[in-house]
Amino acid sequence: MGAGRAREPTSAADEGGIDLSHRKAEHVKVVLGRNVEGRYRYWDDIQLVHRALPELDFEEIDTSVTLLGHALRAPIVITGMTGGFPDAAKINQNLAQAAAEVGVAMGVGSERAAILKGQYPESYSCVARFPVPLKFANLGAPQIIPQRPGDRVVGPDEVRSAMQLIGADVLAVHLNFLQEMAQPEGDRRAKGCLARIGELAATFPVLVKETGAGISRSVAEELRDRHVRAFDVSGTGGTSFAAVEHYRAVDQGAVREARIGKTFWDWGIPSPISVLELVPLGLPVIASGGVRSGLDVARAIALGASAAGTAGGVLRAAATGYEETRHELELFVHELKVAMFLTGSRTVADLQRAPYVVTGESRAWLHR
Ligand SMILES: Cc1cc2nc3c(=O)[nH]c(=O)nc-3n(C[C@H](O)[C@H](O)[C@H](O)COP(=O)(O)O)c2cc1C
Repeated sequence: MGAGRAREPTSAADEGGIDLSHRKAEHVKVVLGRNVEGRYRYWDDIQLVHRALPELDFEEIDTSVTLLGHALRAPIVITGMTGGFPDAAKINQNLAQAAAEVGVAMGVGSERAAILKGQYPESYSCVARFPVPLKFANLGAPQIIPQRPGDRVVGPDEVRSAMQLIGADVLAVHLNFLQEMAQPEGDRRAKGCLARIGELAATFPVLVKETGAGISRSVAEELRDRHVRAFDVSGTGGTSFAAVEHYRAVDQGAVREARIGKTFWDWGIPSPISVLELVPLGLPVIASGGVRSGLDVARAIALGASAAGTAGGVLRAAATGYEETRHELELFVHELKVAMFLTGSRTVADLQRAPYVVTGESRAWLHR
């Protein structure tokens, strides 16, 4: 299905009783209205070692990088969040305009709503108007295999449409099985996803991302062997989708899923640990999950990440306006530069060699 042939927007429940538009709107509302952060800040466990004599001038610092063949002014990615309901257009537009001006990468949220259901394609396509240096389309692993009899699944045509809709350079396939387990209407089938990701990655440039529970080395190795080009770890310690779904389930009176969301609130691999596990594989690693400042970006780079990503760190600004979003991103870049100065790192490659110490709970993970 071509993007131009998308069905008219619908707001009624779709096949399978799922109203995706409503669900995507609720996710934004819950993240903005409740505390859904992980209970432990793993990034604070990564301490960069101060260099009292930087032996360089602040003005010399160069934050530019090349990520997946695209030149960015800073190693920062706004990871996929939204689309598929009317107000999402404003959020995505604010993010795209700010990302283009600051020179960082961005992704949109799952395009399932537009591609499989024809809902609000303009809430994604608005991104195509801005010269964002690297754009990620987004589709979920549960949608690449049939979940229910007669389900339409994502194949090459749908991927092409998803990429064209926003003018994407790379497809992000998200893994969100923790979230699905805490969703009253969640998808429970996962068998066959690996092979299907391999088929898509043989044709399209594919990055695989988690959504807040991290990726282990063994899973990354399986994906690397199936042509996947990059990873976004999206580990534990930032936005908890178990928490988000907990609040939705409470509101819906779904007792079992409300309980699952609470029990598994902090489930997953801490973001910095996932980065350390994946970097030796030699593919670009985006560090995300709890990145809330330019100092966290610097910590991620020191661990060997190619870039750091944030979603929850910019959502509030994006829901407010373009100026606020640009301002927040500029603060991230400035904090990154301060950390580079204080570690004597003129370039991002220098920062990747900066000494660091792992403390706290993250240290225990290193010795498991
Ligand atoms: C409101 C919201 C919606 C999200 N929707 C998606 C999505 O559709 N697809 C996806 O791959 N990730 C989605 N994410 C996950 C983020 O990309 C990211 O992996 C996760 O939030 C962890 O990063 P953070 O701690 O910086 O928020 C969403 C995050 C938020 C906050």
